[in-house]
Amino acid sequence: MSVPRPAAVIVLAAGEGTRMKSQTPKVLHELCGRALVDHMLAAARDLGPERLIVVIGHALEQVGGHLAATSPDARAVVQREQRGTGHAVRTVLEEVGTIAGTVLVTYGDVPLLRTRTLAALLERHAADGNAVTVLTAEVPDPTGYGRIVRDDSGAVLEIVEEKDATPAQRAIREMNSGIYAFDGELLADAVKRVSTDNAQGEEYLTDVLAILRGDGHRVGAHVADDHVEVEGVNDRVQLAAARKVLNRRLLEEHMRAGVTIIDPDSTWIDVGVRIAPDVVVHPGTQLHGATVVGSGAEIGPGTTLTATRVGERATVRNAVCDHADVGPEASVGPYAYLRPGTVLKHKAKAGTFVEMKNATVGERSKVPHLTYAGDATIGDDVNIGASTVFVNYDGVNKHHTTVRDGAFVGCDTMLVAPVTVHDGAYTAAGSVITDEVPPGAIGVARARQRNIGKWVLRRRAGTKSAAAAERALAEREQQENQQ
Ligand code: UD1
Ligand code: CA
Repeated sequence: MSVPRPAAVIVLAAGEGTRMKSQTPKVLHELCGRALVDHMLAAARDLGPERLIVVIGHALEQVGGHLAATSPDARAVVQREQRGTGHAVRTVLEEVGTIAGTVLVTYGDVPLLRTRTLAALLERHAADGNAVTVLTAEVPDPTGYGRIVRDDSGAVLEIVEEKDATPAQRAIREMNSGIYAFDGELLADAVKRVSTDNAQGEEYLTDVLAILRGDGHRVGAHVADDHVEVEGVNDRVQLAAARKVLNRRLLEEHMRAGVTIIDPDSTWIDVGVRIAPDVVVHPGTQLHGATVVGSGAEIGPGTTLTATRVGERATVRNAVCDHADVGPEASVGPYAYLRPGTVLKHKAKAGTFVEMKNATVGERSKVPHLTYAGDATIGDDVNIGASTVFVNYDGVNKHHTTVRDGAFVGCDTMLVAPVTVHDGAYTAAGSVITDEVPPGAIGVARARQRNIGKWVLRRRAGTKSAAAAERALAEREQQENQQ
């Protein structure tokens, strides 16, 4: 059966989430690269609802600002005072008017909920012709949840909140997920009739079930296959548990699509990361944001990539890369830090203890050891010697350095920007290059060496160095005498 398209999805997210003990509103806490509420919105969006509505209240500016920026298709409705889940829905319907068709109500803090579970709820709702269908689950410990009260035939009678439940009702293990499919017109009428006559003095949305049933309408339930999906996040312990579940799900999707993940327990991959088949991900790797990895690449161990593109058959080991572009067959690390604006072309190398920022490294060019390259354009087939520094900052401004094709920069060169080393030019090891080096020239910019004979014997007499020098000098003298 095809899934009926809901007229609206209403996401309740006005509550404070006090148990997070956080300056950040609960629904904005991050989980696998997305805010909690955005996970719910993504699942809701996949149902193709005509309207997407989010009820906000606590931390209005922050949550409202986030939604405006990330979900312009969602309408935010403000619930100034949080007087209960029923009040939240009533506030929406007073603002937008009665919604004809199926209205799905859900929460902003159930990030593990899958679209297919919501679809199954909608299917059941339509197939049974219900006025309301509640998504429920059998849980090992229902403490804190509303309980689903059924009659002997199994028909749903009502939902009772824990605080209002009798001991017998508390023993029920079928919990209310808080997620429902409603007939919009019946909901609009019933939600106005919800009282506050309960232990918490709130307008309970759960009461709508008994009201509709009392009116003679069909009330049903759909039991979720996996109770973990419908469990919300209320504190950071549950947040960590949810992160583990969601991460595992994402890793399994990647593995089934052909990605080798050596150690799923130490690998963390955000929603939205794209990995081609035959990529190998080694232990201790985190892939964040809009990271894209090409086929045959090897990532890790100990690597964190954020919004980084890695080309086919590239290797990235023990590296931190942020908004970098690593070309095909390029090599990064071990122990490299590629900051925003780094571009490694085909077969380029950023080796050990190398940091780059806003730097392009041309094809086959190598920056193998101990180098800082900031604000640089490096051509093709260039070799940058160990300990080279692109001196880009004069204390006030940043300047650019260009090293053209085929250049060879000697070890320990300071390239004081702005400066250009032209095609095929060399720099002598230990040079401080402040002026351009013409094509094919060698730039030598260092003091000529002078030796002060027997200085150590005079100035460091009695040291091991002096003793070693004396022995060597005596040997030399002997050899000279023999000749
Ligand atoms: C609610 C259900 C309970 C269910 C549980 C599942 C009611 C009366 N109870 O209880 O049966 O087992 O969810 O988690 O509905 N919210 C608003 N405005 C409000 C009140 C709440 O937007 O005025 C939002 C909250 O931000 C939260 C959600 O609604 O996302 C649930 O609210 P919460 O107070 O956590 O309800 P529970 O007491 O847990
Ligand atoms: Ca809750």
